[in-house]
Amino acid sequence: MIDQNLKHRIDQNLKHQFLNSELRIRSHSRFDSIPILISNLTWAAMETVFQDYISSIIYWGSGGTNGFVGMEWKLGLEYVDLYLVHWPIRIKKSADRFKLIESDVLHFDIKETWKAMEECCKLGLANSIGVSNYSCSKLSKLLENATIPPVVNQVEMNVAWQQQKLLQFCKEKNILVSAWSPLGANGAIWGSHQVMQNPVLKDIAAAKDKSVAQVALRWIHEQGAIPVVKSFNKERMKENIQIFDWKFTDEEVSQIQHVPQAKGFRGERYVFPKGQYKSIEELWDGEI
Ligand SMILES: NC(=O)c1ccc[n+]([C@@H]2O[C@H](COP(=O)([O-])OP(=O)(O)OC[C@H]3O[C@@H](n4cnc5c(N)ncnc54)[C@H](OP(=O)(O)O)[C@@H]3O)[C@@H](O)[C@H]2O)c1
Repeated sequence: MIDQNLKHRIDQNLKHQFLNSELRIRSHSRFDSIPILISNLTWAAMETVFQDYISSIIYWGSGGTNGFVGMEWKLGLEYVDLYLVHWPIRIKKSADRFKLIESDVLHFDIKETWKAMEECCKLGLANSIGVSNYSCSKLSKLLENATIPPVVNQVEMNVAWQQQKLLQFCKEKNILVSAWSPLGANGAIWGSHQVMQNPVLKDIAAAKDKSVAQVALRWIHEQGAIPVVKSFNKERMKENIQIFDWKFTDEEVSQIQHVPQAKGFRGERYVFPKGQYKSIEELWDGEI
């Protein structure tokens, strides 16, 4: 039984936040028409609303069919529209993912994990499969042996971390980019105020009579990526979807291009002296 607060959040996400994402993901799916789960609950809405449930399974790289059994059990679903590998990282089931120690981290195998994801697809457990936090280099490795290419790579992307190289790569490979922390997470522990307090965005917002958040989200939309923005506030949810009936001038685009770049969440917690990733550069394959 879904409680009313949860139902409200699902409804709002469906109505306001993710319509565009859903349509774009649908057009990239293996199927012309994707069966929709839990009365129209899209993946994007699901990812937000059930983040804790989903994260606990996909994030930690048990991966593929084993991971799905857990998800099915927790969500009560027979299949999902889209199933993502959350990070190119694998940890012990018993680990506290917010306080990892070196011995918690196991070797992550890109090809084997993807094989298991493909198996999920073939078994009908997931209609489409994708990845998250993959560099161009990791995607290339995945694609070398893939029989089903990922439909999406969900990565940190916003005006302060513009991801131009990755965007271009994904475009060439027909992989959608989905942008997490599109507002820079607006001060959350994994984020910053680099987007919402950005003077360039503030000026553009004032000139266009838009909010800074709308400017930030519109920019992602104009890059051909899908902003996955999170809000628990009904008015801000409405505000965040009002980005489709206006656009930037060339001058504004150029101003945004020059915003100083810094990745918000660098992933230090996944780097260990004797681990698979011994430095931030190794984690991101130098793409940082
Ligand atoms: N794949 C991954 O590794 C990964 C990593 C991080 C996050 N994510 C996903 O990405 C999604 C969004 O990322 P995020 O939560 O990190 O960052 P975000 O969407 O950039 O920022 C969320 C914050 O912005 C505020 N906000 C939303 N709309 C606003 C507006 N119009 N004006 C002012 N503030 C606004 C929210 O507060 P209110 O709720 O008060 O509006 C919240 O504090 C999440 O659903 C998360 O699941 C994925």
